[in-house]
Amino acid sequence: MGKLETLRKLMAEKSIDYLILAPGSNSFYLTGFKEEQMERPLLLIVSHDDISFLAPKIYKEQIEALGYSGKFFSDGEDPYRELNLKGRVAIDDELRTSFTLDVLKRYDVKPEKASEIMLEIRKVKNEEEIRVMEEGVRIAEKSFEELINYIKEGVTERELSRRLQDIVIDNGAEGTSFEPIITFGSRTSMPHLRSGDKMLRKGENLVIDYGVKYKGYSTDTTRTLFFGKSSEEFRKVYEAVLEAQTEGEKVEQGVKASDVDARTRKVIEKKGYGEFFIHRTGHGIGIDVHEGPYISPDSQEILVNGECFTIEPGIYLPGKFGVRIEDMVHLSGRAIVFNLLDKELWEI
Ligand code: CO
Ligand code: CO
Repeated sequence: MGKLETLRKLMAEKSIDYLILAPGSNSFYLTGFKEEQMERPLLLIVSHDDISFLAPKIYKEQIEALGYSGKFFSDGEDPYRELNLKGRVAIDDELRTSFTLDVLKRYDVKPEKASEIMLEIRKVKNEEEIRVMEEGVRIAEKSFEELINYIKEGVTERELSRRLQDIVIDNGAEGTSFEPIITFGSRTSMPHLRSGDKMLRKGENLVIDYGVKYKGYSTDTTRTLFFGKSSEEFRKVYEAVLEAQTEGEKVEQGVKASDVDARTRKVIEKKGYGEFFIHRTGHGIGIDVHEGPYISPDSQEILVNGECFTIEPGIYLPGKFGVRIEDMVHLSGRAIVFNLLDKELWEI
């Protein structure tokens, strides 16, 4: 079944008459059209017998080149005049509030969140999407291997982050999928810290969490390296994370997401570091870096074939260091790992 067919089936099941999408990931998923959301409405409207855009005239050629039609308005014209919405309307969670309010003031409809439909259909990837993500991971890993050459005494986190952003573009990506998280030493115990001016010293670890955007799809991978010779405590923590990560990748389709989280957590708890694993085990990935399914203790989801997600346990010892190892998998009976990069501790 095609994407639009699947979508309409789900709309029918949920008694949704219209779907209104912002010009972001959801619109890209269905049509390949992606633009920044600006001050004038640029909407994709899907009903059971139509799919078309409502857009400022400046986008007419762009939209028609993709094979879609639309209602195009000029400045001064009322954009919403011909919408004729009725019934239950699912609205993109990321549509600006002002546009949502304009639509709701104008038409007497019952609003719903579009995420409930869109996240559901985007979770399961088709072969083409998986192939694109595989290519993305190859570019990401090639880039990582090139970045290693720039790791030297005195280099700053920010310098490595900027270098990586250049390298991925040189290797054919559209850019990084998020600002790389590259931190050194004691700063690595903060999982989402952005790169700063910290300089690298011998005897410090590095956390490199990064991804690329390729053909509209994201990748996300983390490696923790050591600059110099690591301590016994560091290796103990590293081995615990690696064991948990490997355990997490044994996931099979039909398993509960919360069970996968429990499996990795159990390994880390057994080693005595349970309280230092302060985040969920993973998240779905696709067009967005974070999307469903979430691999977390509170998830009710059953994992199914075609879903792509990360397995990324970590241990964070405040004031000392943090270790995280993150790979991406997709389910085809069992988990197929996208990554090929070595997960043994790299001492450089
Ligand atoms: Co990551
Ligand atoms: Co991640």
